[in-house]
Amino acid sequence: NYLKIFSPATVANVSCGFDALGLALETVGDTMTFTKTATKGVKITQITGADLPLDPQINAAGVVALAMLEKHPVDFGIDITIHKGFTPGSGLGSSAASAAGAAFGINQLLGNIFSPLELTQFAMLGEEATCGTPIADNVSAAIYGGFTLVRSYEPLSIVKIPVPADLKVVAIHPQVEVKTKDAREVLPKEVPLKDAVTQWANVGGLISGLYTNDYQLIADSLTDIIVEPARKHLIPHFDEVKQQAIKAGALGAGISGSGPTIFTLCKGDATAENVYKTIQNTYQDKQIDFNMILSKINTKGI
Ligand code: HSE
Repeated sequence: NYLKIFSPATVANVSCGFDALGLALETVGDTMTFTKTATKGVKITQITGADLPLDPQINAAGVVALAMLEKHPVDFGIDITIHKGFTPGSGLGSSAASAAGAAFGINQLLGNIFSPLELTQFAMLGEEATCGTPIADNVSAAIYGGFTLVRSYEPLSIVKIPVPADLKVVAIHPQVEVKTKDAREVLPKEVPLKDAVTQWANVGGLISGLYTNDYQLIADSLTDIIVEPARKHLIPHFDEVKQQAIKAGALGAGISGSGPTIFTLCKGDATAENVYKTIQNTYQDKQIDFNMILSKINTKGI
């Protein structure tokens, strides 16, 4: 009758995999509780850590919960609390964490009747309500854990990709606002075939590197020649951070989701710590507040 869960923050795109790849973090995310009540309906009774609407009709978690109870009516109600462990608008899948968490938590109270794929579909409704597009890259990573590939939207098909054991994420979240909607407006409408070939070859290389623990192949493939050039001007000092991170040993760096967070993948703790310090130093004198993240990849999902 009561459940407490941790729903992870996620890095969408992972450079070359725009709207198709995502990964889940271990140390950053939302903590949510779900309680069965006698009064039917969904109530969000408390949100801490961020200023977000309690009205379930316009809250990512609420939208998901309402859709699930509409699909599967029950004779009890559900109270939800959300503690946001990271800032909305960071590019780390804030709405996705709440939406995926709601899908998982409500499913448990309903007796675990929906599959992970169905939970992803419900969670996508939360993404649609909050950022205008029912994107699956963040929510699938939160639900399945590890790296996920959204192989197809219609029909929805999610592939879980293995995580090499030494892979760490170091990220910096500069406290500037980048709205997903705005970051999608700067995207190119068309892509030259030559660029598309480069990009999908890198997606293949990255996936292959993840399956075979080939860190060099991961490093070589972790690039984005289509979306990053169009968006990087939205993120202060992006090029400098990326350059310094790679010099300090990162396998690669890119924009997390639609930004402003810049993520890097690193092999091993020592390199990750070095990259962490290097990025921190790069931003220290920039007069922009920022948060640093060092995390393992969450391989199990919610
Ligand atoms: N793939 C999405 C984007 C993630 O980059 O716009 C943001 O939700």
